[in-house]
Amino acid sequence: MKIGILISGRGSNMVALVDAVKRGEVPDSEVAVVISDKPTAAGLEKARKCDVETLVIERRGRSREEHDAEMIAELRKRDVELVCLAGYMRLLSKDFIHAFPDKIINIHPSLLPAFPGLNVQQQAIDAGVKTSGCTVHFVNEDLDAGPIILQREVEVKDNDTAETLADRILEQEHGAYVEAVRRIVSEARVASDSM
Ligand code: GAR
Repeated sequence: MKIGILISGRGSNMVALVDAVKRGEVPDSEVAVVISDKPTAAGLEKARKCDVETLVIERRGRSREEHDAEMIAELRKRDVELVCLAGYMRLLSKDFIHAFPDKIINIHPSLLPAFPGLNVQQQAIDAGVKTSGCTVHFVNEDLDAGPIILQREVEVKDNDTAETLADRILEQEHGAYVEAVRRIVSEARVASDSM
C-alpha cells in the first residue's frame, strides 16, 4: 500500500512511520511522498534524510478546495491509497475527504472525544483529568470526530505543564501511529486476498 503523509511542522510522527515502514514493521507498504503546506516545516529535511520524496504545496491565497485539489492530484500521481495526517494543522475540504474514502487517518494528542481542537494538553491540565493520551482516528468532515482506530493512555501528573505532558503523549503517539497503520494495511491485504 502506498502511503502519503501530510505534515505542517516537526514531523516526528512522520519519521516514526517512515522508519517503521523501512524496518519492515508495516509489511507490503511504502511511503511514497511527504507533503507539507509549510516550506519551513522541520519535517521536510527529516523526510529528505530518510530518502523520501517531499513536496511543498502552500495555500498561497487559494481556496481550500484549490489547495486540496493540487494535493489530491500529486497523491494520485503516486498511486497513494492511504493518507496519514501527522501534525498537518489545516482542515481538509470535503473534496479531499471524498477523494480517499475511509483512507485518511489522523493522530491527535488527547483521548477523543475529549479535547478536540488545539492546545489540547493545556485543556487536559485545566480540566484536571488524571489520564490523557493520544488517539488515531479516521478523518471525516467533522473536526477530530471520525471513528477511532486506537488510543493509548498517559497519566497526567500533578506537576505537569502542557510541555511535559505533550512530550510524554508524543512518546506514545509514535508507537500508536505505527500500530494503527499496520492494522489498516493488513486489513486491506486480507480484503484484497479474499476477492
Ligand atoms: C502531535 O502531537 C500530533 O498529535 C499533533 O501535532 C503534533 C505533531 O507533532 N496533531 C494535532 O494536534 C492535530 N490536531 P509531529 O509534527 O512531531 O508529528
